[in-house]
Amino acid sequence: MASTPYPPPLQPTYPDRDGTMATELPPTRVALVTGAAQGIGEAIARQLADDGLDIALNDIPQKLDQLSAVAKVIESKGCRATIVTGDVTVEEDVASMVSKTAAELGALDVMIANAGIFLFKPLLDTSVEEWERMLAINGKGVFLSIKYAAKKMIEQGRGGRIICAASVAGIRGSPVCGIYCASKFAVRGLVQSAALELKQHGITVNAYCPGFIATPMIALPGDEENGGTGQTIKKLLNYPAEVGKPSNVANTVSYLAKPESAFVTGQSMVIDGGLTMS
Ligand SMILES: NC(=O)c1ccc[n+]([C@@H]2O[C@H](COP(=O)([O-])OP(=O)(O)OC[C@H]3O[C@@H](n4cnc5c(N)ncnc54)[C@H](O)[C@@H]3O)[C@@H](O)[C@H]2O)c1
Repeated sequence: MASTPYPPPLQPTYPDRDGTMATELPPTRVALVTGAAQGIGEAIARQLADDGLDIALNDIPQKLDQLSAVAKVIESKGCRATIVTGDVTVEEDVASMVSKTAAELGALDVMIANAGIFLFKPLLDTSVEEWERMLAINGKGVFLSIKYAAKKMIEQGRGGRIICAASVAGIRGSPVCGIYCASKFAVRGLVQSAALELKQHGITVNAYCPGFIATPMIALPGDEENGGTGQTIKKLLNYPAEVGKPSNVANTVSYLAKPESAFVTGQSMVIDGGLTMS
């Protein structure tokens, strides 16, 4: 009796452009980006629109004005945009943002589980409440995003891309942000496991692991005098690499979102200007 190979071979996610497969490539692919009101999420949304995808933009309801501004930019590129506010830690919100995306834009092909928070604090000064909030947003939020996106992609039957925000802090511990590191290690565990679980459906699951990137997340008082966003934290920590731009991350995510990246799954792509070597 022939044994089933393990791990099973990757299925092609999308048909080849030369039409060698039976199914037609959908006219436009659709991405949902969480935490898209600013920073890396906004840059990813803009980049994926440049790549020709329609975009559903998520963030918490308090960021509606920022989301509307991003939606206008996406539409000015000739793509469709829709806003699906919600909290990634709330199961009903994640289920609803996925179903609204498919209802309003026709499908969900690319899920970017980007929403996250940072805490610059040693473990001994960190409270249980801070731990629970960190793991809820950075851990449970990514778990729910993977779960509901994958269910929709399996239902559609044409594969997909799930791409999650980890960090270089998810590869090596740090004495100044211990619970953030723990949450990003959790993301990488979820990504590797989901990659194995979902490859039979032609869904790839990967993580992006930035070093410091100039966004509101790492802005500290004194940045302006020090030469820009992130320069204070760089100085405080004696950080030996350059602080990157959100577009540096968006370019890598753009590759992972493409049909052509079908053979890359379970990976943690580091984007840190050479700080970490794998
Ligand atoms: N900036 C960096 O240096 C850096 C480095 C490594 C990894 N990352 C990761 O990249 C991702 C994006 O970071 P950023 O720098 O753009 O941060 P940011 O703070 O600028 O943006 C994060 C966005 O996520 C949203 N968000 C927070 N909690 C949410 C929730 N419960 N539901 C929905 N949205 C929520 C915020 O409102 C915000 O708009 C995060 O996961 C972060 O951990 C950032």
